[in-house]
Amino acid sequence: MGRNVAIVATGVSKTFPVGKQAVTALRDVSLSLPVGTLTAMTGPSGSGKSTLLHLIAGLERVDSGTLEVLGNQIHRCTAAELSELRLREIGFIHQDFSLLADLTLVENVRLPLEAMGATRGDATAAACEAMDRVGLKGLEQRFPAEVSGGQQQRAAIARAIIGNRTLVLADEPTGSLDSKTGAEIMGVLARLRDEGVTVVLSTHNPANLSHADQVVVLHDGTLLSPDTAESPDTLGAGTA
Ligand SMILES: Nc1ncnc2c1ncn2[C@@H]1O[C@H](COP(=O)(O)OP(=O)(O)OP(=O)(O)O)[C@@H](O)[C@H]1O
Ligand SMILES: [Mg+2]
Repeated sequence: MGRNVAIVATGVSKTFPVGKQAVTALRDVSLSLPVGTLTAMTGPSGSGKSTLLHLIAGLERVDSGTLEVLGNQIHRCTAAELSELRLREIGFIHQDFSLLADLTLVENVRLPLEAMGATRGDATAAACEAMDRVGLKGLEQRFPAEVSGGQQQRAAIARAIIGNRTLVLADEPTGSLDSKTGAEIMGVLARLRDEGVTVVLSTHNPANLSHADQVVVLHDGTLLSPDTAESPDTLGAGTA
């Protein structure tokens, strides 16, 4: 397994129990995503995009198949190992931003570092730096309700990248933004990719696909683009 591959899914399936039925969210999904690339996942509502992001983040478990994330066989990890991986290496940007309303932006952004045991001073300094990177300098002491939707989304990105996490997962990061703000957010994510971070996002917006190195199309839980990420780095890495 090359270090140049960030995510390898092989035959991943996931169902959810709904009453006595089982809803299939993902069916036999295999893909391989190189380090330092931006992947856009698209497909109709209910096609499995969020489910795949949650599996990659270790927030949900695969039913069958194998899933390697940043060199970890996460289908075999314990809950504690998954939390550790999420905390240290993976940033997750939820569609609704999920900022805490009672905390200022800088307090929100520094939370993961504090959870990792950093001092408040160190966490604050790193949070200010992360906010600067996403264009939020000067808004550190504002509360989420006192900034725009795009600025809230930027704060969620800053929180997801603080501590130099290597994988950033974003579920519909531009979903509730106007097209200009959405384009700016895509620019922020593309710049992260340029700095070597692996970025995977879901999107309904075709305009966002132009930023992507590879596009993953899901339909009814099945991958429609079998040629996904067939770069020289990933050939033979589990997609066959
Ligand atoms: N916790 C759950 N319990 C039951 N079914 C679920 C659950 N999460 C997802 N599903 C089902 O799995 C399928 C895939 O859902 P998912 O949320 O991954 O789709 P999506 O592509 O993200 O859709 P959207 O574009 O609307 O966000 C759907 O049929 C959905 O109803
Ligand atoms: Mg979704």
